[in-house]
Amino acid sequence: MLTNGLLGDPWKQTGYDGRKSETRQGKLRDLYSKSRQLLQRARRTLPGGVSSPFRARLAEPLYFADGYGARLRDVDGNEYVDYALAWGPLILGHRHPRIVSALSAAAAKPHNYGAQHELEPQVGEAIQQLVPCAEKVALTSSGSEALQLAFRLARAYTGRPLVLKFEGHYHGWLDSALLSYKPSLGQAGSPRSPNVVLGSRGQVANSVENVVVARWNDIGALEALLEEFRQQVAAVVMEPVLCNSGCLMPREGYLEAVRRACDREGALLIFDEVITGFRISPGGAQQAFSVTADIATLGKALGGGATISAVAGRARILDQLPRGEVAFGGTFNGNPLSLAATAECLKMIAENGGRALANANRAGRMLMDGIIRSADRHGVDVVLTGFGAAFAMHFTDDAEIWDYRDTFRDDRTRLERFLRLALDEGLYLLPDGRFYVSAAHTAKDIGESVEAIDRVLGRMAAADTS
Ligand SMILES: Cc1ncc(COP(=O)(O)O)c(C=O)c1O
Repeated sequence: MLTNGLLGDPWKQTGYDGRKSETRQGKLRDLYSKSRQLLQRARRTLPGGVSSPFRARLAEPLYFADGYGARLRDVDGNEYVDYALAWGPLILGHRHPRIVSALSAAAAKPHNYGAQHELEPQVGEAIQQLVPCAEKVALTSSGSEALQLAFRLARAYTGRPLVLKFEGHYHGWLDSALLSYKPSLGQAGSPRSPNVVLGSRGQVANSVENVVVARWNDIGALEALLEEFRQQVAAVVMEPVLCNSGCLMPREGYLEAVRRACDREGALLIFDEVITGFRISPGGAQQAFSVTADIATLGKALGGGATISAVAGRARILDQLPRGEVAFGGTFNGNPLSLAATAECLKMIAENGGRALANANRAGRMLMDGIIRSADRHGVDVVLTGFGAAFAMHFTDDAEIWDYRDTFRDDRTRLERFLRLALDEGLYLLPDGRFYVSAAHTAKDIGESVEAIDRVLGRMAAADTS
């Protein structure tokens, strides 16, 4: 049985009433009018009215006023069960009281020393204890930045120029990483030797020369490219679960085979655990699949909502930093506000035998079961991929989806229809059909969500037959 969050109801005293909005029930006026007005205003200053263009792809770019646990409330008073979780970080839900106290205590002290303080080794040790490859840890501020450091460390360590990445995998928006993230099938080239496709106008054009792209989940394709680029590949980098292109799981034995191929070729293995870290298990994908990388990049859930990322890895690789051979810096690295939240978040992830993530994953699996039962009942073709705390919904009649190119067979118009109806039902979801589930999602949240999804799928099935 799913318990209510981690500690009974830790949000009970927060004064958030959690009532369903009257506007949604009344349906007499535009549910999102205040959000729409604010978006119009924001467009006069912020390009597109948003702070990250990914957010403009949501069915309605909403403005939020409050949230607690797994619930969010927008400026129009509508309440949602949140399955976006700020695109991943809120593994303990919104404003968990222990994170709030840690942040309040840190807020009353200096916010940045630009120098050392005790929370730094404390967080380093907590990461070391949880993450398998973390002999040493470097603290950074965003996932994109952590990947840059990981690539630089790998190139410096091996003396080789190339990074091998996989189609559909996202490693941040910077020039050296935003390659073949969402190429069209026309751009992508042959599956055995895909083109390296720039992700943005204005991107340094020769960044394609420093990267090789492979098809994921196909060990033969990887081995062939490592052979073709012998002695040139510094690192193979991947999302060990392909969360950014449909939450696709690695095939049985694939990660182990990649590990062996890297060892044979003398390339480092980088797991980008910005999503899987502190979500699939306390030790991330490395623990979940029993495969240890040389470097893991961490972010999102690491800080439970605070701004933080990290590069964890073998001491011999990270020890290039203090020797000054590999340059690295950051005004906000290790700032006390972020580290206070991170230290408390990691404490909660580790305690009670990892119960927080067990709860999150169990809640997610209950939701997945409910969606599949409902889709079957209504005769709607839906495939779910991923694991409890991060999964994705595909409208497809394919039985299996293993790679980015397979996701082109998804019916995206149908997904958009689903997302629109689900939003009106009070489910806040990401625009690609991904669901993030936190330790704060209760049996009530899941039960109400399954009922809402059942109504949505029922309506879609009725529209199909009318
Ligand atoms: C797997 C992965 N790596 C890196 C990043 C970049 O992180 P950030 O947005 O913090 O720069 C993301 C962000 O979504 C991600 O999902």
